[in-house]
Amino acid sequence: MSYQAAFRVWRGDADGGDLRDYSVEVNEGEVVLDIVHRLQATQAPDLAVRWNCKAGKCGSCSAEVNGRPRLMCMTRMSTFAHDEVVTVTPMRTFPVIRDLVTDVSYNYVKAREIQSFTPPPDLAPGEYRMAQVDVERSQEFRKCIECFLCQDTCHVVRDHDENKAAFAGPRFLMRIAELEMHPLDVADRRDAAQTEHGLGLCNITKCCTEVCPEHIRITDNALIPMKEHVVDRRYDPVVWLGNALFRR
Ligand code: SF4
Ligand code: F3S
Ligand code: FES
Repeated sequence: MSYQAAFRVWRGDADGGDLRDYSVEVNEGEVVLDIVHRLQATQAPDLAVRWNCKAGKCGSCSAEVNGRPRLMCMTRMSTFAHDEVVTVTPMRTFPVIRDLVTDVSYNYVKAREIQSFTPPPDLAPGEYRMAQVDVERSQEFRKCIECFLCQDTCHVVRDHDENKAAFAGPRFLMRIAELEMHPLDVADRRDAAQTEHGLGLCNITKCCTEVCPEHIRITDNALIPMKEHVVDRRYDPVVWLGNALFRR
């Protein structure tokens, strides 16, 4: 059954903008991205929106729907009452380019700052067999589609641009944890995690985990273990003594 939905969409660019009201047709089974596309096709041909797969796998269509960070292609219209106003705004944490499209380059800058996978230099191809338990541990983190909804949600940077230089955000702290857990990686990112990537700024509110469309347990399986790993390094008396002797 079709109906007309009240849509309120943020229109504007880096210089400012406002919410505009539209009445758009909705058909059974549709998602928010379908309605945004119908809006483009019928009333707002210049509406900017980023999307690719329409299947929850490319991570492009991230926005905020009624204030909640969501993938527009995975947000069913059936979750809203017919008379409810559906408000769609761009991700708040990143600078707006136009309408629903934001500049997410902060995330790529953070990705580049992390020391990449570092296997032992003398290990020849085929010399190491991964244990299944190690494969499974990192498999969860590899499900990330880089939608950056977790980055958008985290309060450390959400309304605090000034923290961005010192904080990699949950997605990239998770990447550091994944590399640190890798049995073949010989780099040690523990000090950098704390001093350069801002692990200490995370106070485990778990908001990142709540919005992850891949249901990755970012906080429990990556951030908390990484915090414990850093503490081991900083306060383990044996390590401390070893380091102290080594420094002599
Ligand atoms: Fe998106 Fe989840 Fe990856 Fe964060 S961890 S970027 S929320 S898929
Ligand atoms: Fe932010 Fe997630 Fe930590 S929301 S504070 S990174 S648990
Ligand atoms: Fe690809 Fe939504 S369009 S995740």
